[in-house]
Amino acid sequence: MGKFKEHAGSLQPLGQAFLVMLERDHRRLMRLCAALEKLADELPASCLSTRTARLIAFMDKAYDKHIFLQEKCLFPLVRSIAGAKAVIEPVLAQLEYEHASDHGSVHEIMSAFLNGCSSQTNSDACVLGFSLRSFFENCRRHLAWETSILHPIAHDLLMDGTAAAHHGALLRMSLGLGG
Ligand SMILES: [Fe+2]
Repeated sequence: MGKFKEHAGSLQPLGQAFLVMLERDHRRLMRLCAALEKLADELPASCLSTRTARLIAFMDKAYDKHIFLQEKCLFPLVRSIAGAKAVIEPVLAQLEYEHASDHGSVHEIMSAFLNGCSSQTNSDACVLGFSLRSFFENCRRHLAWETSILHPIAHDLLMDGTAAAHHGALLRMSLGLGG
């Protein structure tokens, strides 16, 4: 059970659901990193597996979802509470930079996969392997940083009952649930 659930009884329902969503998102990406590492370890043969194309497509969707949850939902919430000049702002800016960088790596992997699996040369497999390792190593470091720095802040904000209505309204808007 994740640390967010330990306090679930004292959270507002929407805030609680969102915190659980953040934990689930992290678990999804950690499983993705493990699957990508296995794919990289088993190159070039793994290129031919039917599961690989599905995994690459899943990676694209999973990382898009991660960026949406954080940049469209969580970061606006944190900024609305902390203010643009708060000490947390450099952390959010760094995380946004890493999202953009890792999102670029996702596209490099997709391109390398298409090239590598069509030609099956060692050099193409090496490019794919390098791109995969770069992505999952960066992603694991990114997730660890979010777990230690960002998630405790999110937890504290969503535990704050005095601003719960404000948080709920902002989250509803970010998630497209209406006003
Ligand atoms: Fe992130």
